[in-house]
Amino acid sequence: MTSTANRLTIRRPDDWHVHLRDGAVLAGVLPYTARQFARAIVMPNLSPPVTTVAAGAAYRERIMAALPAGMDFTPLMVAYLTDGTDPEEMARGKETGVFTGAKLYPAHATTGSAHGVTDVANIRKVLERMEQVGLPLLVHGEVTDAHVDIFDREAVFIDRVLAPLVRDLPGLRVVFEHITTAEAAQFVAESGPNVAATITPQHLHINRNAIFAGGIRPHMYCLPIAKREHHRLALRKAATSGSPKFFLGTDTAPHAVGAKEAACGCAGIFNAPYALESYAAVFEEEGALDKFEGFASLHGPAFYGLPVNEGTVTLEKAPCAVPEVIDANGTPIVPFHAGEELGWRFLG
Ligand code: DOR
Ligand code: ZN
Repeated sequence: MTSTANRLTIRRPDDWHVHLRDGAVLAGVLPYTARQFARAIVMPNLSPPVTTVAAGAAYRERIMAALPAGMDFTPLMVAYLTDGTDPEEMARGKETGVFTGAKLYPAHATTGSAHGVTDVANIRKVLERMEQVGLPLLVHGEVTDAHVDIFDREAVFIDRVLAPLVRDLPGLRVVFEHITTAEAAQFVAESGPNVAATITPQHLHINRNAIFAGGIRPHMYCLPIAKREHHRLALRKAATSGSPKFFLGTDTAPHAVGAKEAACGCAGIFNAPYALESYAAVFEEEGALDKFEGFASLHGPAFYGLPVNEGTVTLEKAPCAVPEVIDANGTPIVPFHAGEELGWRFLG
């Protein structure tokens, strides 16, 4: 990393959690991720979800076909676990190099999770096989029990599901995705080196008040939902601590304006266009710009056992105006920080 008074240069980063969608929207949003990141873990919650090696390979082909000429980007594919997943399919996914991980969506926890797992006991054999072959488990960590308050679902998931799972399968590598609570940060920090977490820009910038500031703000709504201020502060501490257990995963989740601004609006924040600028603001505010490269470019590859990227990217300390809306190949989408001015500009 090199930093002067107004420039920050880091090794090329990766995004360890993105939703690229499919079809026309894929072509519209992919360049934003590919412009800032060398690689990205691509979430499999399509309709239908990516449950087989063949489906993962086909999706990877569609992503590469949608990549504008001259862009250097590698999608890392993920399997979507269901109650019926065949353990051997996951072993094949690892062996053929198609899958970098497999994602546990508790059924009905979030967007595109209807086919998810109804009880982790149902995928016990799959998890054992993943542990054996070294395929990481990526976890959406929320219980789906309607009796549990939405703001408590992550903390309850740790006690009911994640802690027992990590205890029973000590060799399984687990990424606790998009953590939103002090409890999650603490759980990850206190677990072995096989447990890590991604942290999104929105959970470092906003607390739950932002969803209700002067009225209901659908573009601040994602799952897991933003929590109280003390959780945001705990996440900032974890992200900027320098611990290799925490790394960059935006959870960029584009939805058309009309699908967000609706009686039942979709969960998801589209943060890909200004992701690095958004994270850099946090690291600067925390006086931790020296920890930014580890979080963005080093800790993720180390956890996944992949080489770090060649090359660098540079951010300049200069005003960067975020538009109110972005046209993603014909679909209007409101980006995170819409209408705001950020203090860093991505130079490439
Ligand atoms: O807010 C979210 N949006 N959380 C998720 O877990 C899924 C994502 C999506 O796919 O839109
Ligand atoms: Zn996600």
